[in-house]
Amino acid sequence: MSIVTFPKTDVAKEPAPQQKKIVVTVDGPAASGKGTLARKIAERLGYAYLDTGALYRAVALAALEMGSDPSKIRDVKPAIDIVLRNLTMELLASPALRRPEVSEAASKVAALPEVRQALLDFQRDFAENPPGDVGGAVLDGRDIGTVVCPDADVKFFITANPEARAQRRLKELQWHHPLMTLEKVLADMLHRDQRDSGRELAPTYPADDAYLFDTTKLSAEEVLDSAIYTVQKKLINATNENK
Ligand code: DC
Repeated sequence: MSIVTFPKTDVAKEPAPQQKKIVVTVDGPAASGKGTLARKIAERLGYAYLDTGALYRAVALAALEMGSDPSKIRDVKPAIDIVLRNLTMELLASPALRRPEVSEAASKVAALPEVRQALLDFQRDFAENPPGDVGGAVLDGRDIGTVVCPDADVKFFITANPEARAQRRLKELQWHHPLMTLEKVLADMLHRDQRDSGRELAPTYPADDAYLFDTTKLSAEEVLDSAIYTVQKKLINATNENK
């Protein structure tokens, strides 16, 4: 019989200290450009990315498919369970989540406190333990800098005027909905904005320590360059303070 022994130094080795993951939040209203910005920041910095609006959309789509009323928690509960049990990054990227009726239903389920609570743990866990061997996570949504990750390292809040946002959303919808008009997109968007900003729980508003960008007249590249500069400056300052 052989007894396997390990060199003492290996046994005594302390586990490497876990590096704290950087968390960047990008909040703002629909079609403000926050999704594009968040995805690009994640790409540039090699961080994981989560579109939290897609979580609410997934619950809304599941509720609609079950014939449920998206504004009634009793009806929506089974949809939450289904989504949390089957959640994958592929599901969150599904084009079906972008349909106009899903946008409308998502805004309704997002106003239900039980839905927000059920999705909170998933979002926080993603921020603290992003998938893959990455240095951080970027999350975009409405309440990420205020409620989900109030201690995030860098927070952005993105706005654009309603007409510019409606133009962008119309462009996204045109392929599948060629008869959609700017007036209808704008009216639907303003209605949902009001619901998202006016709700009691986690309304859309900038955190006190968020950097604000208005993307009405700025190109996506200009906003991205500024955001990356802001994140890097913040990280360098934090490193210097810890020395
Ligand atoms: O960003 P989006 O349009 O995909 O979001 C879909 C809906 O979900 C929208 O009505 C706002 C809501 N939402 C929310 O309340 N909180 C988040 N963190 C993300 C989205």
